[in-house]
Amino acid sequence: MKKPQLIVALDFDSGMKARELCQKLRGVVSYYKVGPALYLQEGPDIIKFLRGLGVKIFLDLKLFDIPSTVLRTAFEIGRLEVDMFTVHAMGGGEMIRAAVEGALEGSRHAKTTPPAILGVTLLTSWNEKVLEEVGISLPVEERVLQLAQLTLNAGAEGVIAAGENVAVLRKELGDQCLIVVPGVRLRGSQKDDQQRIVTPKDLVRSGADYFVMGRPIIAAAEPLKAAREVIENLASD
Ligand code: C5P
Repeated sequence: MKKPQLIVALDFDSGMKARELCQKLRGVVSYYKVGPALYLQEGPDIIKFLRGLGVKIFLDLKLFDIPSTVLRTAFEIGRLEVDMFTVHAMGGGEMIRAAVEGALEGSRHAKTTPPAILGVTLLTSWNEKVLEEVGISLPVEERVLQLAQLTLNAGAEGVIAAGENVAVLRKELGDQCLIVVPGVRLRGSQKDDQQRIVTPKDLVRSGADYFVMGRPIIAAAEPLKAAREVIENLASD
């Protein structure tokens, strides 16, 4: 069974804190996620910094707009040289195809490798009440599969999905689809605002490619120790 790889979410309110954390985790963590708050503060500098460390970069801006705007945004992301970025699958097939086209053009322009595009299916912070509020009919698993299929048919490489949906997605979508899972916690730790959580070990069984962890590592008293514990959890029997 292949082991999913840890991506640490740099969900900080300052670029300095993010840089310090990456230095602390050097050699242990090799994939980082940059979200809107950090990117708005630091801009392309944080991407250059991470590239300088030789780590991989997941730019998680979750694009959701009209196709022409998404195309222009994805063009800029393509020029940045990141490894993955996200769009909301609920933006629809035309919007996702615009993201694919924009990213390809941008990376061609900058002579870089095109990033993989991931469709966000349903946010892991959503419970049934939120789904009802926004008019998404149940069952969740069917909605997630429908959004994942839409994402892949539009030419994207994979999806963000809750851990509990990974096994079904892997079975239905096959090995080529990248599956990235947020909302991951070690057993007995705090859930924060995540509603549908799993452990790293669960993901080995279900077949995820990557998992994202933020607060359990970045807000830990000893982030290096916390990251090591997570990696050990993956290897345990
Ligand atoms: O701190 P925590 O481990 O909960 O962080 C999870 C990260 O994954 C956050 O940066 C959040 O934006 C992101 N994410 C998520 N659920 C999704 C997609 C992304 O929690 N469906």
